[in-house]
Amino acid sequence: MADTTWDGLVPPHGGVLVSRELSGDAAEEMLARARGWPVVRLPDHLVSDLICIGTGVYSPLRGFMTRNDYWRVVDEMRLASGWVWSLPVVLPVEDDVAAHQREGRFVRLEDGRGRILGAMRVEDRFERDVDHEAMEVFRTRDPAHPGVARLRSEPRVLLGGDIWLLATFRGGGASRSNGVAQTGGEAGSERYTLTPAETRAEFRRRGWRRVVGFQTRNPVHRAHEYIQKCALETMDGLLLHPLVGETKADDVPADVRMRSYEALLQAYFPPERVLLAAFPAAMRYAGPREAVFHALCRKNYGCSHFIVGRDHAGVGNYYGTYDAQRIFGRFRPGELGIEPLFFEHAFYCRRCAGMATTATCPHGEEERVSLSGTKVRAMLRAGQAPPPEFTRPEVAAVLMEAMRQRAHAAN
Ligand code: ADX
Repeated sequence: MADTTWDGLVPPHGGVLVSRELSGDAAEEMLARARGWPVVRLPDHLVSDLICIGTGVYSPLRGFMTRNDYWRVVDEMRLASGWVWSLPVVLPVEDDVAAHQREGRFVRLEDGRGRILGAMRVEDRFERDVDHEAMEVFRTRDPAHPGVARLRSEPRVLLGGDIWLLATFRGGGASRSNGVAQTGGEAGSERYTLTPAETRAEFRRRGWRRVVGFQTRNPVHRAHEYIQKCALETMDGLLLHPLVGETKADDVPADVRMRSYEALLQAYFPPERVLLAAFPAAMRYAGPREAVFHALCRKNYGCSHFIVGRDHAGVGNYYGTYDAQRIFGRFRPGELGIEPLFFEHAFYCRRCAGMATTATCPHGEEERVSLSGTKVRAMLRAGQAPPPEFTRPEVAAVLMEAMRQRAHAAN
């Protein structure tokens, strides 16, 4: 039955769309008081988390996790309240900062450049178990895994508690309907930042109810386009939602990826059926657990469905090709409140003369146009467009130009 409170869109996770943003007099007041509070400096990936908490992307979270949420999330993929949640969202702090924190104290949250982002009321101070967390969340303790490497490099002491985010920092708060933000992602992608309240308003304006969300951290290729379009055949609309928070150094920068999407949309999608927006979170590379996390965040943005293809949020060989689909079987139907749409490995088949998967194509591997990421990067660097069966020429042009500019800047 449609939930009238949410105008036919899925309700947010936990039933309330969290907003921890302060603007106007409330922001001024906080700023005045915050000058006397101890400072916690956030690296970029935690700035992303702060923005996501503050704008409701991580509803029902209202702050960085306290120990009850942390342990239950690590061990059972649930918050203390029982709602499903698959990844820890925590604030690690150096010992000298942590030593002065007591319950009920406030801290000022700043970014690496010393800009005040918001504040937190400290409710808990506790230690994480790095090995246990690595094994449960990433399924490995290997320091070569980028998520594990970060975990190992961070302080062990965590502060938990509700946060407040200065709306000016993310660019004006929910009242700003064009979603222009000043930060929250890499340069160039800011103008695509829409909060969950803003995507929901846009879905309502367009009359969408069945909306499928698509997560990506890579430049768009034909397999992406294929599964997006397969899903779109039975949906009202598609939220194309590239992640623009921190990624591995060798992933393509967010502004280039956004341009590749602009090129694709302009040439190959009906504009009224797609909304392109930026997802401000950072990558964790936690494969299966991150797929669940990605789905819950998109539910908060108003998506009823979410695409999970091959090796979602994977890295190296740490996860099986379809582990990120299998994990959804661990939850009761309806418990997540967003429906995953699973897709097999998609490819271009010469005999079919089109995109396909093993679910629809009877031909052998020799008929497939398949290229490794390494090969594609080498071709682009050499100014050579990958075959159109792999990448649309319009997208290849964007990627080659970005490579050329980078090489030029490096010389
Ligand atoms: S991810 O880290 O954001 O998952 P990527 O941008 O490569 O990486 O993938 C975006 C989505 O497309 C994920 O759901 C992924 O599983 C899916 N996907 C990527 N390539 C393929 C493919 N060839 N076939 C099917 N699904 C794919």
